[in-house]
Amino acid sequence: MSDYTPPFPKLSKKRIGTMQYLFRGWYSWIHVLYEKSFSMKMGQVRLPHTTIYIVNEPSLVKRTMVDEWESFPKHKLLWSQLRSLLGNSIFTTNGEVWKKQRRMIDPAFQGARLKVVLPLMQASIDSMLQRLDHSIKQPGPLDVEVEMTHITADIIFRTILSTPITTEDAHLIFDNFNKFQQKALRGVVLKFFRLPAFFYERQADKFAGEIRNIIATMVRPRYDDYHSGKACAQQDILASLLEEKDPDSGEHFEYEEIVDHVCMLFLAGHETSASTLTWALYLIANKPDVQERMYQESTEVLQGKAAEFGGLKKMRVCWNVFRETLRLYPPVGYFMRETAKTETLRDKTVKPGCPVMIAPLLIQRHRELWSRPDVFDPDRFDSEESAESQKNAYLPFGAGPRVCIGAAFATQEAILILANLVQRYHFEPIAGDVPEPVGRVTIRSANGVRLKVTAR
Ligand code: HEM
Repeated sequence: MSDYTPPFPKLSKKRIGTMQYLFRGWYSWIHVLYEKSFSMKMGQVRLPHTTIYIVNEPSLVKRTMVDEWESFPKHKLLWSQLRSLLGNSIFTTNGEVWKKQRRMIDPAFQGARLKVVLPLMQASIDSMLQRLDHSIKQPGPLDVEVEMTHITADIIFRTILSTPITTEDAHLIFDNFNKFQQKALRGVVLKFFRLPAFFYERQADKFAGEIRNIIATMVRPRYDDYHSGKACAQQDILASLLEEKDPDSGEHFEYEEIVDHVCMLFLAGHETSASTLTWALYLIANKPDVQERMYQESTEVLQGKAAEFGGLKKMRVCWNVFRETLRLYPPVGYFMRETAKTETLRDKTVKPGCPVMIAPLLIQRHRELWSRPDVFDPDRFDSEESAESQKNAYLPFGAGPRVCIGAAFATQEAILILANLVQRYHFEPIAGDVPEPVGRVTIRSANGVRLKVTAR
């Protein structure tokens, strides 16, 4: 079988000028990259008021994310970009506030909960299959991005709030989040250039507000019930957040904090998975041999029944497809940190407060860290040859103490969804309809991902 290289923006041969940075970055941050971005050990982007240091070398990545992570806190602009949606939640906070939050949220994601959420995930998948059975009877292609956003949002609703998402809310959130992504990116680009950003920030706030309202409406009665002493019937993640107490002060999370955390878990937990699953379907549609092997494997493991907890580990091809999709299109394409004090990065002296960017998108397609870096090859994860690359140059879930809290949750969910989809349907590309990857808050397609979907 021949190699398949999936779509990616054409890279400039040379570094682009500052104004081009502004214009292209306005549209999508991955459109400012050039060839050397994928082969350098470290790079710099000089902007009028600051310099962004880009770190690709594995030892430096380990230093910033793992060994000396406290010296490289999350950048303040990250907070400002996501503030209206996520408030002061764990994704954006630093220092003692973050430590306290992480201690209190960790228990909600401990291993045992994965078994508890498995039937909730399966219930959500069953609803998706019903929707799809209906949709594929309609003429024309199916936008799998809309569907993947719906299912992942539904899974998060069921596991956090014990309720399925309505189709109306799913679409409302999808539309508002797309608009939010665009405005929030523009606001941040302007802020990097120290230009007034309030116009875009106000718009981003408006779209974020729509999403927060949907979630706050569900949290309020549960919060009030809990604090008025009513017994909690649900065993979900919200119940765990309501019960959790700060081990030092003995205090519970306050209402606004709970809303911030639920919004953050909702966003971090569905947008990332939706992006990965959408790309995974596009990739396997273009690699029918891989799709067929996923079908054979899931038939053997599932045997026409719902997946059992232990069975997921046996779906190696599905897992490798998930991992390879995360390598090529990591939803969180970059992490923005800043120097807390003066640092020496390779031969550069970097002043406090400078942005330091660690980008899985660059590292995972790096010319010297991976072989055939742009080729879709899920089997590479089983080859000895890529063992070093996997160890040193693969971080779709981050690394160190701030590693993703939901990595195991997302992996279980993705394998389950992919296995169920290939069991029931066949996915094919549509000639001439190639998605354009764009980098905003996550890496998505500019105009959806349409496929021909038929029943097996
Ligand atoms: C394919 C799916 C996912 C990907 C690729 C992903 C990726 C990431 C990455 C890269 C980070 C670290 C960011 C940084 O260091 O700046 C992160 C953090 C986080 N993720 Fe995920 N994530 C996924 C799914 C989930 C899910 C399902 C949840 C929860 C339901 C979740 C919750 C979080 C939280 C709470 C953090 C912040 C952790 C902290 O700062 O202490 N993620 N995620």
